[in-house]
Amino acid sequence: MMNIILLGPPGAGKGTQAALLQANRGMIQLSTGDMLRAAVAAGTPIGLKAKSVMEKGELVSDTIVSALIGERLDEAAGAGVIFDGFPRTLHQAEALDILLGQRDRHLDYVIELEVDEEALVKRIIGRFSCAKCGANYHDSFHPPRVPGVCDICGSTEFRRRPDDNEATVRTRMAEYRAKTEPILPFYADRGLLRRVAGMAPVEDVAAQIDAILDGKS
Ligand code: AP5
Repeated sequence: MMNIILLGPPGAGKGTQAALLQANRGMIQLSTGDMLRAAVAAGTPIGLKAKSVMEKGELVSDTIVSALIGERLDEAAGAGVIFDGFPRTLHQAEALDILLGQRDRHLDYVIELEVDEEALVKRIIGRFSCAKCGANYHDSFHPPRVPGVCDICGSTEFRRRPDDNEATVRTRMAEYRAKTEPILPFYADRGLLRRVAGMAPVEDVAAQIDAILDGKS
């Protein structure tokens, strides 16, 4: 039962790779971004607190996201877990150690996706998804085959994340550099950190991650 963290700035491909690992290895993706967006959509007390913070591109409080992760870890009992977008601060990294220890789990790898930030801004501001089935698209890199119609389910409804505009993306990048990058040494010192070339095509990035998880890299 493997537990891993995917680390990288906004748009690095954490969600893309976590979804592949979930599909191919039966691991469970725990994305704090997805959890917070669900809370915002449902109008829960956490969602009401998180909404404006996320729209500005700033980080939601450590206490809130650590509590969300604790709940989801209990639901994932018996399965390996991919932490996607968590931890994002040293405080969250320390909280994760405690949450894992309480459940007799340990971290196997922390995988950093190394990327070019300017290219990521283009990736993020062009992305959108099908409102019905969630399939992902991009204005330039991966538009639907028939404009305005989902390739997978035929829906004509699409959505964009409210934080996927250039100003907010720049704030999210700055938050990553200031608060998340400093946790890399925390894991490097424990021998857990591995780096992959995140600007490669999706399947090549996936192959690099597989090699690490299979002990071949
Ligand atoms: P979150 O949802 O975690 O967003 P993020 O980290 O900004 O990351 P993204 O989801 O934008 O990108 P990703 O790395 O998953 O890339 P993706 O696979 O989608 O967080 C949102 C907000 O929630 C935060 O700003 C904060 O406010 C709050 N929050 C969340 N967690 C928190 C925490 N722990 N603490 C405090 N606050 C928290 O890929 C991006 C695009 O690129 C897609 O279009 C994809 O198709 C494409 N793509 C992916 N890989 C490749 C590739 N190799 N080649 C070409 N295109 C690719």
